[in-house]
Amino acid sequence: MKGLFITFEGPDGSGKTTQIKILKKYIEEKGYEAVLTREPGGTKISEKIREIILDKTHREMDYVTEALLYAASRAQHVAELIQPNLDQGITVICDRFVDSSIAYQGYGRHLGDSVKIINDIAIRGCVPDATFLLKVDPELLVDRRSLGEMDRLELEKLEYHQAVYQAYLTLEKQYPERIIGIDANRSISEVSEDILRRIDFLIMTKAQELL
Ligand code: TYD
Repeated sequence: MKGLFITFEGPDGSGKTTQIKILKKYIEEKGYEAVLTREPGGTKISEKIREIILDKTHREMDYVTEALLYAASRAQHVAELIQPNLDQGITVICDRFVDSSIAYQGYGRHLGDSVKIINDIAIRGCVPDATFLLKVDPELLVDRRSLGEMDRLELEKLEYHQAVYQAYLTLEKQYPERIIGIDANRSISEVSEDILRRIDFLIMTKAQELL
């Protein structure tokens, strides 16, 4: 049986990291093996690409270059880590995946459909079984962090983050069978209860498919 591929999406600072850790523990307690990974990154090569992308001094980076680097990082991640683990029946939980590129580069940078095309090449059919979209209006998030802590991308204007957020809402409507919108304006435990309930359903559905 192939492992479940679960991704998390949402604005920067929406609480993905906390929820991902809770989910990993829960899946392991149920007796399944799970690996946790992130994008951009996850492998040695992909982490090197991440450094290039998020370097604050790379202000001159062209948007197409940026989109191609995210896709390149993802191609390596899928080939080296994600697909091999899924093939061994291990659940893979990934912090951000293709939807981030569609939202941030496709809509945020106005690169449009080309982003999907380059990412289809990168992922070779490796599509998540479920994507949790943590929904928090970016306006509520900006003041939580100090400027000094922000990386190059986080320093972008609020308008950009609003465009990204609207793109996520569009994707949620476009892929209702895969993308599960979660109201993240609630406490950590309320949000996680919601996610774990849906995971139980997903595991049950997958088990029934195999009967
Ligand atoms: P990171 O520090 O990992 O942020 P977060 O904790 O919010 O995930 O930085 C990742 C940044 O890269 C984040 O601002 C979103 C952006 N990003 C893209 O623009 N496109 C992508 O395909 C991915 C994976 C991330």
